[in-house]
Amino acid sequence: MNNNFPVDRLSGIETPFYYYNMDILNQTLDLVRKESAKYGYHVHYAVKANANERIMKTIKDYGFGADCVSGYEVQQAIDCGYPSSGIVYAGVGKADWEINLGLDNDIACFNVESIPELEIINELAGKKGKIANVALRINPNVNANTHHYITTGLEENKFGINHWDLENVLEVLSGLKNVKLEGIHFHIGSQITDLTSFHDLCIRVNELQEWFISHNVLPRIVNVGGGLGVDYQNPENAIPDFESYFKLFSEHLDLRPGQELHFELGRSLVCQCGSLMSKVLYVKKGVKVQFAILDAGMSDLIRPALYQAFHKIENLSSKGNVEKYDVVGPICESSDCFGKAVVLPETNRGDLIAVRSAGAYGEVMASQYNLRKLPKPYYSDQL
Ligand code: LLP
Repeated sequence: MNNNFPVDRLSGIETPFYYYNMDILNQTLDLVRKESAKYGYHVHYAVKANANERIMKTIKDYGFGADCVSGYEVQQAIDCGYPSSGIVYAGVGKADWEINLGLDNDIACFNVESIPELEIINELAGKKGKIANVALRINPNVNANTHHYITTGLEENKFGINHWDLENVLEVLSGLKNVKLEGIHFHIGSQITDLTSFHDLCIRVNELQEWFISHNVLPRIVNVGGGLGVDYQNPENAIPDFESYFKLFSEHLDLRPGQELHFELGRSLVCQCGSLMSKVLYVKKGVKVQFAILDAGMSDLIRPALYQAFHKIENLSSKGNVEKYDVVGPICESSDCFGKAVVLPETNRGDLIAVRSAGAYGEVMASQYNLRKLPKPYYSDQL
């Protein structure tokens, strides 16, 4: 699908800013709803990928729930109209006020990552005379084969409960009156493009389900997290293969009667609808390379600097002969670089640049480093 940037209208907006193509977002959400509904699966949108109000409300209108990792994300989901019955809340370090916020709003489930957390939720729920639904986040020890910063399912990660602790956890749970074990939860990592990792996860979940059943526990909910990747090299390939993704789980994950399968998808829903828009301030000739210096920097999109992530860069203004540029931002850090030896049509001051596939972990990770303004969002249907 072609993004069809409305270059004339975009050129009049003060840069840098985020531009969201709402057609791409809607088509993506349409497909996710269709493919997940085939199997009766439940999808929670992982708010951390993009907490922008317009994006969140659009996703909510498709009937998806929300997967939150902080009190303010829970609040944002509620403010955007997500029903509390569709809100799940994960995170290794939930503060007491955040747990209380979840309890006060009767959220669907706390995804719990340790025994001490289980005990605190029990205590706080008890003070309110409530019973909190919890899912145990279990470390499946499945390698997601992705960047080490976003691999989360291995034993040495800080996330989740290790399988050898489960016996202990069930014993502790049996003594806690204000928590109810509703589910088991997994998440192996993010930007996973090889579905084999999800196949491995299914096999592991099946084994763990057997273990629970042998201990007379049948969790009502199995939540397999998120992590489906997108095609950063080719943003025109805008919609991930949700058909194969959900089909894989339907073929390999054994659910017992009455069990529900839940997902927490972030990146795959919102990544390709967003671009960071910027203008070229200067073209500077170095000894061996020439730099295209943008007015957007790592404060607007930190992924290249933080994860050496690739984002396709396009010059929307020029049709000149191609040359190579190191595309950098204005921030006082050498890592403030969007791409090295990027092939672009001849680039000049004032050209409009799109840094593609920036709808996920883009705007939401922007900062005011160097006391810069936060980039504003604009939407294709409101220009
Ligand atoms: N569920 C849990 C428990 C998670 O930790 C995450 C992401 C998700 C769901 C959603 O994963 P997704 O479907 O978006 O892959 N800032 C990094 C990504 C960090 C992902 C953290 N957890 C990046 O820019 O690549």
